[in-house]
Amino acid sequence: MEYRDFGSRGLRVSEIGHGLWGMGDWKDSEDAQSLEALELSLSLGCNFYDTAWIYGSGHSEQLLGQLLRNHPGEKIVVATKVPPKNRKWPANPQDALEDTFPSEHIIEYTKRSLENLGIDCIDIQQLHVWDDHWAAHPSWQEAAQRLKEEGLIRQFGLSLNRWEPWNGLQAIRTGAVDSVQVIYNIFDQAPEDELFPLCQQMGVGVIARVPLDEGGLSGKLTEDTRFAADDWRSGYFGPENLAETVSRAEALKTLLPAGISLAELAMRFSISHAAVSTSIPGMRKPQHVRQNIAVSDGQALPGELLEALRHHRWDRKVAPWSD
Ligand SMILES: NC(=O)c1ccc[n+]([C@@H]2O[C@H](COP(=O)([O-])OP(=O)(O)OC[C@H]3O[C@@H](n4cnc5c(N)ncnc54)[C@H](OP(=O)(O)O)[C@@H]3O)[C@@H](O)[C@H]2O)c1
Repeated sequence: MEYRDFGSRGLRVSEIGHGLWGMGDWKDSEDAQSLEALELSLSLGCNFYDTAWIYGSGHSEQLLGQLLRNHPGEKIVVATKVPPKNRKWPANPQDALEDTFPSEHIIEYTKRSLENLGIDCIDIQQLHVWDDHWAAHPSWQEAAQRLKEEGLIRQFGLSLNRWEPWNGLQAIRTGAVDSVQVIYNIFDQAPEDELFPLCQQMGVGVIARVPLDEGGLSGKLTEDTRFAADDWRSGYFGPENLAETVSRAEALKTLLPAGISLAELAMRFSISHAAVSTSIPGMRKPQHVRQNIAVSDGQALPGELLEALRHHRWDRKVAPWSD
């Protein structure tokens, strides 16, 4: 495993981190398998774990807490998130900050997460949605500062809305943001336009999430793939998005070098930009942990291939099915 600086705030993190959404509340998750996957990633050098209170109302955090208890003294970077008080994903300009992230709510959910995780201090506390018209509002910055002063968090970050990497630039410019989490993958390359250069300039850590486009870049979807009605992916990979995703994934397969799967190519792409501190695939299964961590071998994608991948950028607009 290779390691990178997490912005300029002193943390070193593994290039591949572990995303814990699926194991928190996707219907087909099994805790024993999830815990096995967490133990395996740690043993293979992963030191970055991204969870959120909303992933199973604390369940995902509790699974991570189990890993932390099993390895006292080991430096494991914990990132979690405060859910919006109004429970609206994504945030939009009509939402008031006082209804979404009032200070007392940020403090209360930080304490709930600390309890679920069984620790005294969270390395990176993030707001789970964001709208940049809140940037100049002092209350979120004061809450972040208070949590730091009380020793309950080390760093404060924003998780940006799907397909809106520009919706956070003003907040980053305030200097009060230590990290951002953003969707970045072969399809979703827009963070390279403005967000990544600004993060590099401001020394802000970048968590690249959804490197496999929720499975769209796993190479496993076909036009016949169907998810259970109560599985979140039945909406995301519904009639508006499945066929085009499959056709774009098939087009990418023509670029695959011998012996490389689409998932491997996608994972390698997700760490190809120097602004990215860590990429966090959702890994519920040990075989995925092995495959995804194996791409952190110091071998960059050839420039020609990266150039070819630029043509597969897919700028999408937020829709009712996408969140
Ligand atoms: N708003 C937010 O802040 C937000 C939103 C979404 C995600 N996140 C964070 O980002 C993390 C990653 O996102 P995600 O899990 O939604 O999407 P993802 O990492 O793009 O995709 C996860 C899917 O890819 C599959 N997969 C993983 N490794 C694979 C491999 N090597 N080969 C083939 N398939 C593979 C998984 O399979 P299985 O289904 O078999 O497990 C799962 O279905 C989350 O866990 C969470 O920590 C944050």
